[in-house]
Amino acid sequence: MSAADVIRGRAPGFAPRVAVVLGSGLGIFAEEVQPVATIPYGELPGFPPTSVGSHAGRLVLGTVGPTPVAVLQGRAHYYERGRADEMKPVIRAMAELGCETLLQTNAAGSLRPDMPPGALMAITDHINFTGQNPLFGETGNNRFVDMADAYDPALRAALVAAGEGLFEGTYIWFGGPSFETPAEIRAARVLGADAVGMSTVPETIVARHAGLRVAGLSLMTNYAAGMTREPLGHLQTMAVAREAAGKVRRVLRRFLEGYS
Ligand code: HPA
Repeated sequence: MSAADVIRGRAPGFAPRVAVVLGSGLGIFAEEVQPVATIPYGELPGFPPTSVGSHAGRLVLGTVGPTPVAVLQGRAHYYERGRADEMKPVIRAMAELGCETLLQTNAAGSLRPDMPPGALMAITDHINFTGQNPLFGETGNNRFVDMADAYDPALRAALVAAGEGLFEGTYIWFGGPSFETPAEIRAARVLGADAVGMSTVPETIVARHAGLRVAGLSLMTNYAAGMTREPLGHLQTMAVAREAAGKVRRVLRRFLEGYS
């Protein structure tokens, strides 16, 4: 049985339109969902174990306003097992269920002095700085995925409209799990990045390959390495994410209530 089969069995007749990935510290958004079914990743074939404590590893199916959603509470990261394709079965199951949009959230470091911790940024584009690709090994012509407008302009506009002073910018993917060096951050700025993180990009690539539209929302949890004297750490990321989770929750709710 495929993951999509298991999901269909648990929520017969339920057809999610938007899959929402909740990043570090943002799992609380799941409380906005009028639930139909909740399934631990462990019961879904191919879904990854999530080793980061702040990621619950649960799929919540239900509605937000008029919109049927599949909320992925937790993601696997490249740095966990050195594989960029950990989320491939998850994204593909969402496509198989009929989702047309992948809405991603993450915690990120800001490269812009005017975009402080606590700020939200709609992702306009990304830079894959890892050299990894979740589509390594795919065959067929459609593996050559067009990545122009990978972050759907109309969805991005809807996010900005739902937002509370949202920034817009480019997200750069570093592999982690160590944070970047100050020199890497200076380099990333020269390359045109506004925010840095360790996720999202592989899921976007898989989603575009599967024909899904993508929207991305980054929560700044810190200034990137070398920009302040503040030491970087996961606990600090989590603390800021929890503090701002209410704002993220409102933006996502408004986006999904207005989704059509
Ligand atoms: N770098 C990489 N990933 C992150 C950061 C950062 O500064 N903050 C939150 N996730």
